[in-house]
Amino acid sequence: MAVLDQLTSQEAIDLENKYGAHNYHPLPVVLSRGEGVHVWDVEGKQYYDFLSAYSAVNQGHCHPKIVNAMAEQAKTLTLTSRAFYNDMLGKFEKYASETFNFDKLLPMNTGAEAVETALKICRKWAYEVKGIDENEAEIIVCENNFHGRTTTIISFSNDPVARKNFGPYTKGFIKIEYDNLKALEAALENNANVAGFLVEPIQGEAGVYVPSEGYLTQAKALCEKHNVLFIADEVQTGIARTGKMLAVDHENVKPDVLILGKALSGGAYPVSAVLANDNIMNVIRPGNHGSTYGGNPVAAAVAIAALEVIKEEDLANNAEVLGQLFRAELSKFIESSPIVNAVRGKGLLNAILINDAEDSDTAWNICLKLRDNGLLAKPTHGNIIRFAPPLVMTEAQLLDCVAIITKTLKEFEK
Ligand SMILES: Cc1ncc(COP(=O)(O)O)c(C=O)c1O
Repeated sequence: MAVLDQLTSQEAIDLENKYGAHNYHPLPVVLSRGEGVHVWDVEGKQYYDFLSAYSAVNQGHCHPKIVNAMAEQAKTLTLTSRAFYNDMLGKFEKYASETFNFDKLLPMNTGAEAVETALKICRKWAYEVKGIDENEAEIIVCENNFHGRTTTIISFSNDPVARKNFGPYTKGFIKIEYDNLKALEAALENNANVAGFLVEPIQGEAGVYVPSEGYLTQAKALCEKHNVLFIADEVQTGIARTGKMLAVDHENVKPDVLILGKALSGGAYPVSAVLANDNIMNVIRPGNHGSTYGGNPVAAAVAIAALEVIKEEDLANNAEVLGQLFRAELSKFIESSPIVNAVRGKGLLNAILINDAEDSDTAWNICLKLRDNGLLAKPTHGNIIRFAPPLVMTEAQLLDCVAIITKTLKEFEK
């Protein structure tokens, strides 16, 4: 088989099954093209993308401005490593630092790497600035978190599938209930070794859990009181997804350490970053941390373009307006439908809770039917389906999608 031969969907699936590690369980659909809110499979069928590559494609598939920035930079200079300076990285660092109001940025590639970076910065700050004894620093995390797949990160996951048989685990983490200020206070009280609190402003993978109003503000205040770094993982919630540039902006909270990924490149290229002010970021010195590709010129050009698109097209506002419409329409549907228990979310990061046992395959079967009806979504956990379309969607397209979703759900009413 020549590399350029056009495969059928089944042939592509068979190839992955035979030659690829089985570390994912994809919905059976094989995509070969994307534009804006749409993707097409190899047989030419068109779908609305309601996952956006787990919120990486906020700016829409193959956004021309982002693709052009990538192509132009790819023709000019792709990689120098950080052994030398390149003429794009500083521009990206300045643009993103000013956009998010921090002194400095540390560039990486994937979300998990950025989380690892933030944890390392936090520990080093703990020893060199806060004065915690060496190897004693602890970081508070939340139950049902999702921060990625590295050995350290899965050490504080409580998803057995992500964790089991990958030990021994990294020490130094305290797990508390999400959205529970009392638990946070208790973990902070009488423990001078706490260095940081790592939190998702909305728990995306867990099933789009939106914390109580005021949780982030008060959590930040508790961290300040105890001289502990508030570390916001906005890899999934950031870059306009929830109706503001950052999800913490809903409560006007400024994290000490901000973690970005996914839509920082609009889905064109792996780009992630950690942002912090000098009093924190300056603990990192040459040799402490790095990545061959982190901060490469293509990543820098793509990320600048991706952030410009968010601002120029006012995508945060579009996410806010369409998100309200989506939840209102779905709430109306739920009133008279026994198949969905709830709809929740912020901006265009939403989920519905299917009325069936948590371990039932109803949500999966609904996603298969949604696919047949021209819309791609995937269960997060058990019976929860996440709905996160690109933010470039129009109102008419959103209403079209609501019609597809409600029509499909009706087929599952008993
Ligand atoms: C909140 C959060 N943090 C980190 C990650 C990991 O990002 P990546 O898959 O790019 O490593 C994800 C991915 O879904 C995420 O949702």
